[in-house]
Amino acid sequence: MTPSLLRVLAGEPVWPPPVWLMRQAGRYLPEYRAVRARAGGFVDLCLTPELAAEATLQPIRRFGMDAAILFADILLVPMALGQGLSFVEGEGPVLPPIRDEAGVAALDYDAARLAPVEETVRRVRAALPETVTLIGFAGAPFTVACYMVEGGGSRDHAAIRTMAYRDPALLDRLIATICDATVAYLNAQVAAGAQALMLFDSWAGVLSPALFKRHVTAATARVVAGVKAQHPDIPIIGFPRLAGLALSGYVAGAGVDAVGLDTSADLRAARMLVPERMAMQGNLDPMALVAGGAALDEAVDGILAAMRGRPFVFNLGHGIVPETAPEHVGALITRIRAAS
Ligand code: CP3
Repeated sequence: MTPSLLRVLAGEPVWPPPVWLMRQAGRYLPEYRAVRARAGGFVDLCLTPELAAEATLQPIRRFGMDAAILFADILLVPMALGQGLSFVEGEGPVLPPIRDEAGVAALDYDAARLAPVEETVRRVRAALPETVTLIGFAGAPFTVACYMVEGGGSRDHAAIRTMAYRDPALLDRLIATICDATVAYLNAQVAAGAQALMLFDSWAGVLSPALFKRHVTAATARVVAGVKAQHPDIPIIGFPRLAGLALSGYVAGAGVDAVGLDTSADLRAARMLVPERMAMQGNLDPMALVAGGAALDEAVDGILAAMRGRPFVFNLGHGIVPETAPEHVGALITRIRAAS
């Protein structure tokens, strides 16, 4: 039988809804911290198939989510394009910023550097029960470009937002380069056994409507078209975080099969903007999961009530934070599975 997550992504309103959580593998789990310590660096963990497969499977073993998400990172694509990447303890990712023509021209995608990720996908798929779907992923082009241009995380993304006006052709070239690499990377994940894909666009919400259309919706459409040309049946979830009112244009133009909604999205309003058969995914506040108890139950019930009757995947509105008690995740899954 088709697993519940794939049925929902195909437009079927399965109830209770399938559930998985963004960053379900991560520092809130003691068993993850142990694997992370064994690997040394975070990038080493991502590129060691044995350990990355273990990290992917840990939350499934402990909680039994309906989907596993490949353990990797969106910044592996800049790395494979030849940009340096390091993770500095307590600071997050650091890359040498790319701000000019020479920087973009020097980028050259080396698929072999991400071959270990394909091996992780094969191992995970072989280890998972048939009922659990394996989700592959990449960053959406604009969000990946944010890290490449800013050189890491940023409070206001001023460098890339200024580039979008001052040198639009340069940003277009950078985004086109990222699109092509992302298509190759995602096609390789599907060939290795990924059964659905997700595109994380964490910074989609910082753009004006015109720039959103160009660098979020159109760039995503280009990636989706490149993947579907090789794998027409692979379902793709887009996550344009903080898109707000731009959600309508995104669901109409990005070509995705399903849309992830962030914590700020009003689900009853989003329901009106998203086509009836397009699956929605989200959007529990990760802080409700930190709090737990009655406040968590109330937030969960509100989401379930708002989404009843629609193809829906229960998830968070952004990733699990390290402060989360694992028991709260268990309680969350139990409550969703008991929904009527
Ligand atoms: O469980 C999963 O969700 C799968 C693996 C996954 C990771 N990162 C592992 C990770 C996924 C899907 C991502 C996506 C990702 N990575 C995004 C998009 C989603 C979002 O959070 O907005 C972004 C922007 C990144 C880039 C990134 N990776 C940052 C900014 C950081 C540092 C912040 C932090 O939490 O430390 C990372 C590191 C990272 N990626 C960790 C994990 C588990 C923590 C690293 C560690 O173990 O020290």
